[in-house]
Amino acid sequence: MGRMLAMEARRMSYNTHVLDPDPDCPASKVCDDQVVGALDDPAAAALLASRVSAVACEFENVSLDAVTAAERVCPVYPRAEILGIAQNRVKEKDQMVRLGLPVPAYAPVRTQEDVEPALRVTGLPAVFKTATGGYDGKGQAVVRSLEEALTAFEDLRPHAELLILERMIRFTKELSVVCARDAKGEMACYPVAENIHRDGILDVSIVPARISEPVAAAARELAMAVAEGLDLVGLLAVEMFLADENDLLINELAPRPHNSGHYTLDACACSQFEQLLRITCGLPLGSTDLLSPVAMVNLLGNVWVDSNGEPDFAAALTVPGVKLHLYDKKDIQPRRKMGHLCATAPNADLALSRALTARAKAGG
Ligand SMILES: Nc1ncnc2c1ncn2[C@@H]1O[C@H](COP(=O)(O)OP(=O)(O)O)[C@@H](O)[C@H]1O
Ligand SMILES: [Mg+2]
Repeated sequence: MGRMLAMEARRMSYNTHVLDPDPDCPASKVCDDQVVGALDDPAAAALLASRVSAVACEFENVSLDAVTAAERVCPVYPRAEILGIAQNRVKEKDQMVRLGLPVPAYAPVRTQEDVEPALRVTGLPAVFKTATGGYDGKGQAVVRSLEEALTAFEDLRPHAELLILERMIRFTKELSVVCARDAKGEMACYPVAENIHRDGILDVSIVPARISEPVAAAARELAMAVAEGLDLVGLLAVEMFLADENDLLINELAPRPHNSGHYTLDACACSQFEQLLRITCGLPLGSTDLLSPVAMVNLLGNVWVDSNGEPDFAAALTVPGVKLHLYDKKDIQPRRKMGHLCATAPNADLALSRALTARAKAGG
């Protein structure tokens, strides 16, 4: 994400500095300079902030101490308070409830004694999650009985002090909306993405989502209500479930560019990365207009593993409308996001089949 943000900044001739512990990190090749330091090191964050006019966070699991240290030196988007909410699933849901916005039934779990009463709130089946630190489906278990919930508690408890039980939603679709809000409170909202996850990891995003116009409008309203309610300045991705009766429920928030918004690079007038850059630099918001139906498919490390380290991208790029994005990550892991393919087409179904065909040709 940092690399893609820095690429937009480079296009517009801004100087960028990145904070990352790895001197060879993907963004380092695109940025003008780097502070090599840990994301939980306040001194490193303050040093970064001292070298720039503004800081954008494209990752929410940075320590709040580090972000606060940077905030003392220059503006940070989003601010630490927002990151603190998005880092903790319980705080996130509490905040949505306070704003009167819909979430699945949930209950915090700290001790084994909390499990049974929490299940009375959520019902079964339920999804047990760590409140902090989880991503790409990590730190989660679906539980179908009290016994399974108690076992999951034992498994998850070593990874986080606070856990959460959520009602398992039988959704018809998963949706997400990326919206942008600048320091003046102006907002811009991208089209709704229809997301398909595999093993808890985003696999495919299809835009426009294949839903009715009233549902799409409601999803966008919901995302903007969250951004306004949090008084967020920056980007916000809101993941949602579309449940029965066209009910929308908020699953989680990401106050940063989002994987399901990568399609904006190839299919929108102004991408999510340019948008964050504009907000960070005090420029007016860009147009979120969709220029073409589009589908994005992720390229996980398994594509490399299955093709003995040599995916056939030349074959993938024979498919019309396809663009390849690689993140220059050195360490290949089967479940790690290494890149993505985007396909534009006259309609969403064709875009999806193009993107899937391209990935299959690459070996994934
Ligand atoms: N309460 C739930 N009901 C149904 N499915 C869920 C629920 N929570 C998570 N999931 C599934 O697991 C995926 C990942 O969960 P999520 O909470 O978004 O965590 P993360 O993306 O941070 O790993 C979701 O996109 C969805 O497919
Ligand atoms: Mg998610």
